[in-house]
Amino acid sequence: MPKYVALLTFFVELATSSLPPEEAFHLLGCADDGPNNLHLLQVKGRMVSHELELPHKPIMKGVSYGPSPFTSPHRNRHQDYFCDAAQPMWGDEGRGDLRVIRSIGANTVRLYGNDPDQPHARFLDHARSLGLEIIPGMGDKAFETGQCKGGNYSCSEGTQFAFKKNLENGFLLANRTYHPAIKYFIVVNEPELKLPSLKEPRQFAKAIATAIDGVLAAEEEAGVVGPKPNLTVTFSFASCKRCAKFGDRPGLGQIWTLQHALLNPESYGIQPKHNLTEFFRTRFTYSFNSGNPSGEIQELFLKHYVELFPSTPIFIAEYHNPGNPDLQGDLEEILSVAASSSLLLGISFFEFQNRYDQAGHLVWGMFDPQKDAQKTMRLKFEEFESAVPCLSPIYDEGTADGIRTIVEQLTAEVVISKHGFHQMVGLNNVSAMQQFVNRVVEKLGGFVPYVVPKEFAELFLHPQSSYRDLEAMLVGHPQWARWDTFSACTVDKSALESTLGGKIGYICGQGYADCSKIPPICKKNVWDTASWVFGSHFRELMYARDETPKPLQHCYLDGAAQFVRSSIWKKSSLRHACIVPVGWTDPNKVFITQHGFYLVWSDHDPIAMKVFIQRAVEHTGGEVRERVPRRFVARMLGLEASFKSLQAKLARRPAWAFWPAEAACVPDRAAKARDVGSAIGQVCSKGLFDCATIPESCKGNVWDTAAYAFGSYYKALRQRSDKADPLYDCEFTGKAVFANPKLYSTFNLTKSCVVTVPTIADTNYS
Ligand SMILES: *[C@@H]1O[C@H](CO)[C@@H](O)[C@H](O)[C@H]1NC(C)=O
Ligand SMILES: *[C@@H]1O[C@H](CO)[C@@H](O)[C@H](O)[C@H]1NC(C)=O
Ligand SMILES: *[C@@H]1O[C@H](CO)[C@@H](O)[C@H](O)[C@H]1NC(C)=O
Ligand SMILES: *[C@@H]1O[C@H](CO)[C@@H](O)[C@H](O)[C@H]1NC(C)=O
Ligand SMILES: *[C@@H]1O[C@H](CO)[C@@H](O)[C@H](O)[C@H]1NC(C)=O
Ligand SMILES: *[C@@H]1O[C@H](CO)[C@@H](O)[C@H](O)[C@H]1NC(C)=O
Repeated sequence: MPKYVALLTFFVELATSSLPPEEAFHLLGCADDGPNNLHLLQVKGRMVSHELELPHKPIMKGVSYGPSPFTSPHRNRHQDYFCDAAQPMWGDEGRGDLRVIRSIGANTVRLYGNDPDQPHARFLDHARSLGLEIIPGMGDKAFETGQCKGGNYSCSEGTQFAFKKNLENGFLLANRTYHPAIKYFIVVNEPELKLPSLKEPRQFAKAIATAIDGVLAAEEEAGVVGPKPNLTVTFSFASCKRCAKFGDRPGLGQIWTLQHALLNPESYGIQPKHNLTEFFRTRFTYSFNSGNPSGEIQELFLKHYVELFPSTPIFIAEYHNPGNPDLQGDLEEILSVAASSSLLLGISFFEFQNRYDQAGHLVWGMFDPQKDAQKTMRLKFEEFESAVPCLSPIYDEGTADGIRTIVEQLTAEVVISKHGFHQMVGLNNVSAMQQFVNRVVEKLGGFVPYVVPKEFAELFLHPQSSYRDLEAMLVGHPQWARWDTFSACTVDKSALESTLGGKIGYICGQGYADCSKIPPICKKNVWDTASWVFGSHFRELMYARDETPKPLQHCYLDGAAQFVRSSIWKKSSLRHACIVPVGWTDPNKVFITQHGFYLVWSDHDPIAMKVFIQRAVEHTGGEVRERVPRRFVARMLGLEASFKSLQAKLARRPAWAFWPAEAACVPDRAAKARDVGSAIGQVCSKGLFDCATIPESCKGNVWDTAAYAFGSYYKALRQRSDKADPLYDCEFTGKAVFANPKLYSTFNLTKSCVVTVPTIADTNYS
């Protein structure tokens, strides 16, 4: 099983198995990807459902969530990120943070900031729908009253006022029961450091006890019914030297002091309205924040805690030991301590993302907000407006393999993706970029016999450079690399044999590889079957989608598949007849698109290009008279050639082809009926023509329906704009063709369902 160093995968490793990092990366590449990748995650079965949770004690596996959108140092007054206005970050319509958190195996989200005037029900509903439990906290403003911070630390009034509003703004359902997503409520975070300080234990104890009393009063005032969540107070891990007991133990002095105050309020000058002793016995859970490793937490704290407070459960509300050479191991350890402890409930990993609006918050995040932003949604808070930054995963310095520098680690392990690329750009190290490019080449099925030229790597260290440019240059097959047309997606011999059956079924179920055609010789053992199925799937994907399949994404299968070049699979013990290399591009199968052109172009094969050009002519309603002149083909294979230039040349109606007066946009017979069906749906939703007008006589089969729908759509488009171009507007990724009568008459369509238009208007190219 591969080890990932991105922090975000920790829980995945622990919860189920490993999530291929490139998928996780895609998750948050909100600029291009978005919800599709969430879909991918689900398809891959990575959602950790409640049923999959360990049957014994449920452990809190939380993520501390305070996603401030700033990407450079900034002062900021808005801290509430679970309100409606923050939905472009936490909601599925936006970046999908909550779903991401769930997908990486967490079951709890600890929050910061809380503006009681903001609505919170939507966030809680969404969390609930994902099976996440929420731990909100009181906002600091509740303590800034004249009696509390400004006076003798009687804090009930402020907390009652604020919490009452919280209850009304989403914490309660309509029938006055608590929202079921709320697991705990943090009455105050690190009170011993601010109310007023560690030096005055009696004061902070009073502040906390009165604050709790205020929360209870708010519940009463709001008429809460049904079960109530426990309240907690989150302490720091500081030693409280002035505390009456355990002053030499981190965390324990303040914990003891609070307990003492709740059991003896009067001796702290508190006249509570509620029975705080009873409250402590029935509804209180302790929590604390710590940056220490699990060994220290056990030794310095937990060992003593379980003896001193044997009936009060506790959780770690911020857990993360940055710079730990084995952070993964450390997390595993603390969770296994929780699993076997009677009192430790679990942890919340600190924290979801780096923050540029708070000092010292750049070493804790699983993600880093990027200047790249989500294009469709913006954040609008009262205090400021902002784009929704994309998030890039953070790499930690250490792995279980030993300590390495960030650079070494990134060079060797950064995932080949847009975000990985940006991390490399950030390193600004030519030799690291050379190695990265080398890895990209290998993933694309090539190899670099000598080295990636420095000048090439330097090009991509420019801050304006993009991963897309890099890929585009590499698919252009630069001279310094060798490209192997016979690379193949094959089974990985180190996969678990018992998992292969499931993977084969999954791939066959996707319907790209034709699994009814597995050669008998490849059925003799599961490795050869897998090899044939994975290879065929990958190759067919090339033709089924208008993009080059990505080995990392489409030939991975949790490590069961791998993309290798021929020199490698030729040495493997797999039966060679069952290996399906990508091979030369089939010019009869690619789509007539820019991408299809590119695939054919990069094979440098004149015969293939000739076929492609012939098909392109057919797709504009024309027909080649005799043959495409050799010179024309050669030009289309030249360095300057592009699909656009082909399109422009055909628009000038070259003499070696001709265009009948009329043609029609009809479904391409080479497409699958299923795909044509979904293209009809797309066309109907564009609103250019009314699909309710499709005549009954064209509803007999999907081909006739499509002929009528595509044809009417294209005709309507024509009437609107003389720029309608069949190569773009009658294409629907391989599902349609603008065919002349001679061609479409071979398609077995009902004549009255074919909607013809003149071919001539297409000469109007700009
Ligand atoms: C603390 O302040 C509250 C509110 O101002 C007041 O009612 C109370 O008497 C004060 N207590 C002490 C001990 O000063
Ligand atoms: C309150 O409403 C929720 C949601 O409508 C429902 O699930 C719950 O059973 C209700 N509780 C009571 C006590 O009526
Ligand atoms: C508070 O509740 C406890 C039981 O938990 C009880 O012993 C005590 O008498 C109560 N205190 C007051 C002031 O009612
Ligand atoms: C709530 O608090 C009581 C008293 O400490 C405790 O027994 C119970 O386990 C707590 N519940 C949770 C969910 O932490
Ligand atoms: C650049 O990266 C290489 C490894 O790829 C590393 O050995 C070297 O130390 C790095 N240089 C700097 C200045 O960080
Ligand atoms: C042609 O279409 C008719 C009716 O739409 C259908 O019954 C027939 O099987 C089709 N023939 C071929 C060769 O596809």
